[in-house]
Amino acid sequence: MDYEAEIARLKRERNAIVLAHYYQEGDIQDVADVIGDSLQLAQAAAKTQADVICFAGVHFMAETAKILNPNRIVVLPDLEAGCSLADGCPADRFIAWKAKYPGSVVVSYINCSAEVKAESDYIVTSSNAEKIVRAIPEGKTILFAPDKNLGRWLVKKIGREMVLWQGSCIVHETFSERKLIALKTRHPDAEILAHPECEDGLLSMADYIGSTTGILKYALASPKKEFIVATEAGILHQMQKGAPDKTFIPAPPEANCACNECPHMKRNTIEKVYTSLRDLSPRLEMRADLLERARVPIDRMLALSA
Ligand code: 13P
Ligand code: SF4
Repeated sequence: MDYEAEIARLKRERNAIVLAHYYQEGDIQDVADVIGDSLQLAQAAAKTQADVICFAGVHFMAETAKILNPNRIVVLPDLEAGCSLADGCPADRFIAWKAKYPGSVVVSYINCSAEVKAESDYIVTSSNAEKIVRAIPEGKTILFAPDKNLGRWLVKKIGREMVLWQGSCIVHETFSERKLIALKTRHPDAEILAHPECEDGLLSMADYIGSTTGILKYALASPKKEFIVATEAGILHQMQKGAPDKTFIPAPPEANCACNECPHMKRNTIEKVYTSLRDLSPRLEMRADLLERARVPIDRMLALSA
């Protein structure tokens, strides 16, 4: 099966677009209409006129696209593609946590369920979190969920305390500081690029910290030739395409495993992208009241990110 040609045909027939996150396999990125970080993909979903959105990413991303497009069909190639951050922040526990801090402003990372979004004042991504948190009036208690590492990085950067939910990403937590030090010794000129979902110790070694798009842009613009990349390995596909003369070294996980690949993101395959467009399934379906409530903090984020 020539998946590329078949996907192109189905996109035309169904007036569909494929949105792909950088953590998808290279062959999926290559058939996408938009490849981006969480914010860019949400922005693309917000402005599309397509009848069908095939979201090659994880559940919370496709859910966000559905919230922004209640009347369009949104398919996720594998409905089981979850996220450890979203899974580690169930709505009932989140509501109980929030209740302990009446009057606070609740900022949630986009890596959370629609139910958690519906209970939040602002949604942020790693590329706009700093700007949005800085815009919150002084004197307000801020709750930040679910990523403690991104939260701690923001607290340090902005110099403002926040109450942090203690969640983390299974991929970004596996990078080993010890092995990174050894790798840097062997590649002293390499710049270390890290995603803010990494732990504090690792971030303190980074030359640049940012979202997947931020990391990619930095690597392409830098005069340096070697980079150690501390985020999910899928990002290397666009790095190598954009700068074939540069060397990109994935940061090593502590164990001898492929733990720098997100098992949720990697549930999607090019074949599943094809079948999801062919069958218009599996679809994201959500209750109308949840769609409406979850949209409020997402719209606030989009307005502040324009
Ligand atoms: P960004 O795409 O915003 O950099 O986030 C990375 C991520 O972990 C998505 O799940
Ligand atoms: Fe979630 Fe981490 Fe996978 Fe991103 S890389 S989808 S944060 S588990």
